[in-house]
Amino acid sequence: MTTVHGDLPQAELRTLGLRPGDVLDFSSNVNPLGTSPRVREAAAAADLESYPDRDCLALREALAGRLAVTVESLLVGNGSTELIHLLARSRLRPARRCLVFAPTFGEYEAAAVATGAEVHRVEAAARDDFRWRLDEAVRTTAELRPDLVFLCNPNNPTGVALEQEAVEQLGEAVGPEGLLVLDDAYMPFADTPWDPSPLLGRGNVAILRSMAKAHALAGARVGYLVARPAVIESARRLQHPWSVNAIAQAAGLAALGDDDHVAAARAVIREGKASLRSGLEGLGLAVLPSEANFLLVRVRDAARVRGALLRRGMAVRDCASFGLPGHLRIAVRRPEECERLVEALREVLAGG
Ligand SMILES: Cc1ncc(COP(=O)(O)O)c(C=O)c1O
Repeated sequence: MTTVHGDLPQAELRTLGLRPGDVLDFSSNVNPLGTSPRVREAAAAADLESYPDRDCLALREALAGRLAVTVESLLVGNGSTELIHLLARSRLRPARRCLVFAPTFGEYEAAAVATGAEVHRVEAAARDDFRWRLDEAVRTTAELRPDLVFLCNPNNPTGVALEQEAVEQLGEAVGPEGLLVLDDAYMPFADTPWDPSPLLGRGNVAILRSMAKAHALAGARVGYLVARPAVIESARRLQHPWSVNAIAQAAGLAALGDDDHVAAARAVIREGKASLRSGLEGLGLAVLPSEANFLLVRVRDAARVRGALLRRGMAVRDCASFGLPGHLRIAVRRPEECERLVEALREVLAGG
């Protein structure tokens, strides 16, 4: 199963005669300020000659201190995508059950399918603005007793976020044998962020964090999982040695001490989001409510609009792979960049 992701499609750019530097990326929801200078410096100073620490000890120790958990509760991965696949491989096999809150990030289902497990979905509907009906979701979860559940919060691509109480109810419904994986890749950029760490005490909840989005480290590939040590150990045993390279570890460590950069990005996103929303609505488009640093927008033919925008040097995410061929997902960037996007979209929709 090949998953589609928001990123800059190099082959397509070449056919259009564009270089990556010519394109504004509204497709991958990364920190609009880019990688911080401090992190770049740390990455540049990484030791390229020796093997990296296969235990990522320095990064795990720093994370343990910040999150008030033990080092044994942490696993660092080659992006959170590697961790999703390790979790699936360690907990699923044919006849086991994985539950996915859809529409959502495609890698959960791809990882589950690869193990031969059954994949079940709690599907949110457009008429509900893609909010899951919590009572139904809790009932389905309790009846299914899934071995593994993926919940993205705030959710990609809808921007829907559940409050702590709702996630607690789901954790209860999963039962003690299952594992609820809370992917909070976008929580640092949520309108009202909340800290899911207290849920770790339940024992059947794990927190998955990408450093790609908050810290603009998508190219470095670094993310981490926080869970009870037995969950960590069974995933770790499946991980290839040196999967997280020295540059990623150095960059990740430096990024952890760089809260100001994330805070500055939050401020830019707040402003950019208001500008993007009003610009899109000004074009007569329906924009869904979103807690996150991206907006889901209804257009008639998302594939055509995406192609036309790319030719104008702006990459957005066509949501066909999420089962939403009439929607685009547009990341929030700086207000002036959002204005450029809106202007380009105005031309495209006018048929120019
Ligand atoms: C919800 C979510 N989780 C995880 C990822 C993957 O992150 P990483 O780059 O850390 O593998 C993405 C990337 O788009 C995502 O949207």
